Amino acid sequence: MRQIIIAGNWKMHKTVAEAVSFVQELKQKELNPAVQVVVCPPFTALAPVAEVLKGSNIALAAQNMHWESQGAFTGEVSPVMLKELGCQYVILGHSERRQYFGETDETVNRKVKAALAQGLIPIVCVGETLEQREAGITEQVVASQTKGALQGLTAEQVAGLVIAYEPVWAIGTGKTASAEDAQQVNRYIRQVVASEFGSAAAEAVRIQYGGSVKASNAKGLMSQPDIDGGLVGGASLKVEDFVGIIENSL
Ligand code: G3P
Repeated sequence: MRQIIIAGNWKMHKTVAEAVSFVQELKQKELNPAVQVVVCPPFTALAPVAEVLKGSNIALAAQNMHWESQGAFTGEVSPVMLKELGCQYVILGHSERRQYFGETDETVNRKVKAALAQGLIPIVCVGETLEQREAGITEQVVASQTKGALQGLTAEQVAGLVIAYEPVWAIGTGKTASAEDAQQVNRYIRQVVASEFGSAAAEAVRIQYGGSVKASNAKGLMSQPDIDGGLVGGASLKVEDFVGIIENSL
């Protein structure tokens, strides 16, 4: 059985004070222990949030990283630094990184390998744009992003990571993929993993859905056989909304 994983990607939101107060409140909630809850604050808030989360079951993730451990890369943050802060997960290849910051399948692949080498669990994002969906090439796009990101990994490594299917047209738009459409793409991604890394890895890898997830659609999405959780943007910014999603995900 794959554990449901609900991750809140705060993107470029929340000051340190706001982030700390969010997790203090979240920690007080009785969250279903069967759900793996993850918060993904901006870099500036990782250390203070890690401090508050000590002793809780809520995991910490960064939203990006460089693939090198250290060096002359002004403005970048390394996997070693994230590990030191207590991050367990790191989001890699988010479509906003691909669209605005030149992220490619090749850089995502380097980052995935570097994250695994430091014991961080990558949450690898894949997903098609509206134009690609309308052109009928969703499967080609997610297959090549998945293969590109995971190239050179072992089946064991793939089994332990998380893939997030985030159709770009559903991000921050209020348009959610229907549970059936999301299930279909998630199942397809699992088939791609099976053909590249074998059925054991495909059965074990957790595949989230992301794109306008909210409390009201969480149940329908998470009850699909190949949707193992959600990567949540806007609705992860208020404790009440985020908890609503967690509660409705089982
Ligand atoms: O990474 C989560 C994200 O891209 C989805 O954002 O605001 O549509 O839930 P949102």
